[in-house]
Amino acid sequence: MRDASSDAAATNVQPLPPTIAWRGGEDGALELLDQTLLPHQRRVLTLRDLDGVCEAIVSLRVRGAPAIGVAAAYGVVIGVRAAATTDVATATAAVCDRLLRTRPTAVNLRWALERCVRAAARDATLANLLREARAVHADEVAMSDRMARVGAPLVPHGGCVLTHCNTGRLATAGEGTALAVLFQAWSQGTRFRVLADETRPLLQGARLTALELAAAGIPVDVCCDGAAAGLIARGEVQLVLVGADRIAANGDFANKVGTYGVALACAAHGVPFYAVAPCSTIDPALADGGAIPIEERDATEVSTHGGRSFALAGVGARNPAFDVTPAGLVTGIVTDRGLLRPPFATAIKAALASGR
Ligand code: MRU
Repeated sequence: MRDASSDAAATNVQPLPPTIAWRGGEDGALELLDQTLLPHQRRVLTLRDLDGVCEAIVSLRVRGAPAIGVAAAYGVVIGVRAAATTDVATATAAVCDRLLRTRPTAVNLRWALERCVRAAARDATLANLLREARAVHADEVAMSDRMARVGAPLVPHGGCVLTHCNTGRLATAGEGTALAVLFQAWSQGTRFRVLADETRPLLQGARLTALELAAAGIPVDVCCDGAAAGLIARGEVQLVLVGADRIAANGDFANKVGTYGVALACAAHGVPFYAVAPCSTIDPALADGGAIPIEERDATEVSTHGGRSFALAGVGARNPAFDVTPAGLVTGIVTDRGLLRPPFATAIKAALASGR
């Protein structure tokens, strides 16, 4: 049974500050909404040093594949500025190297940093690095808009859409990936409700997705990750939309841990399962998902919550932050260059070629 308060929650949500903003010119600062404090506290961080930017990415103060890339691109400006050198190209390479090591799975980080390195090779000035960071930011916003339009017709009027993790404005520089599709469909008059997996261990679904949907007036219920398969089996879900952190050349993709289980349940019960991601999330150099690096995070994220441990002292924990969903379980991939259908190897190659 739905909790009536989930609809009422919508009316109480104040608009969120921007997820990422750059204030000022070359001497400016990076502003990030600290997502570790949401939904109960809103604090905007003002970052002027590279350590702070790296810490914000590692600690998930800024998170979500496209958002990490945009934050890192601005981090390059901050890091190179602090290096105070005339050899901007060498400093850019060193700063990018440092930023690249913050989180290994989302390839958008590498995509954005490689753009910065190329920009410095063309014109080795701080002004040009800031121009490139702004361009990375604008490109992610534009890709987000296009994905939303491509995916919106998939959303069933009167149906229930399940999603995993957070893929909205908080995860990108724009409207989002999977959630952008939902925002767009809603704005076009399609009516539906959403089941948001809570997304253990850091609860991006319960804390962030439910907040964003409530703010948009879209009815949302949170469920335990472990409840998703049973709800799918009972016919309570008509569509699953998730984001992606890295898509291999054959369509296998990494996303927040727990996504693979949802895909298996969809395949078992005939529910369409789509990934939604910009082309900046595709890594054509990887033949399949087996080669995607999976971030292992601190075990205490699993064994504690709110500073309290709920496992016996000495009990170990595994904490892979992502898992890989094989392409064979995927109905389609919504991208900024259209809806890709199997066989994904061919479709991905064509989509990437269309942008050259
Ligand atoms: O660890 P996170 O919160 O950065 O993980 C985010 C996800 O897994 C998202 O689904 C993914 O980045 C794609 S949508 C922007």
